Amino acid sequence: MSDGFRPHVGVILGSGLGAVAAAVEHPRTTGYAELPGFPRPTVEGHAGQVVQGQIGGVPVAILQGRAHLYEGGPIDELREPVRWLRRAGAEILVQTNAAGSLRAEVGPGSLMAITDHINLTGTNVLIGPNDDRIGPRFPSMGRAYDPELLDELRAAAAQTGVALAEGVYTGWSGPAFETAAEIRAIRILGGDAVGMSTVHETLVARHCGLRVAAISVITNLAEGMSEVPLSHEQTLADAARAAEALVRLLVAFIPRLAAR
Ligand code: HPA
Repeated sequence: MSDGFRPHVGVILGSGLGAVAAAVEHPRTTGYAELPGFPRPTVEGHAGQVVQGQIGGVPVAILQGRAHLYEGGPIDELREPVRWLRRAGAEILVQTNAAGSLRAEVGPGSLMAITDHINLTGTNVLIGPNDDRIGPRFPSMGRAYDPELLDELRAAAAQTGVALAEGVYTGWSGPAFETAAEIRAIRILGGDAVGMSTVHETLVARHCGLRVAAISVITNLAEGMSEVPLSHEQTLADAARAAEALVRLLVAFIPRLAAR
């Protein structure tokens, strides 16, 4: 969209979290079909549109819907939306996702700020020829989730009274959920939550110089931790339930990024 709109913050919304887009003032919506290289979301709960506007005076572009590795589409669909945000002028990427918790005390409906990630998807979205104009061949992941943005997230949580856990997100390719043994392995490795997205967009974002903040909406306890069978329907239902707190958190967080 070459209309001169410059988002400062890009937001990628996860499954069932579309309610956040309703908080955008003066919204203008563009379908992914109009944006070359963007995914055609195939998963229920992902709308496939960009909503541009303001939240608390900060120009934002909200990406409703993302590609996932398990969809098997072109890998560029994981890269292009993030690079598009960067080219449009964004400095910060805020990601949200639905995830399972490995910590019994962080149950369904909780929000967790991601402090770091473990990529267990078996691949890296930056594999392939590197375009040095976009970013370096070997990008550092030393500040994958930006410590200053995490401080602002903590402050926004305190300001709104939204409880915010913190932990390490583990990326899993899916589409099958993990086995109970895989969950025990992930716990030993240091994972606090597990989900099927986010790590690749973070890799692309850090490569092209976007700073990243990310929040998991905990939709379930991970396999082997409860009697509730895991399903996408259950993920969507619990994500919708937590969406209200997420919206309150983001509406307090995003204006704090004006000077960042
Ligand atoms: N595992 C992987 N992805 C998920 C989960 C889970 O338990 N919950 C929501 N997304």
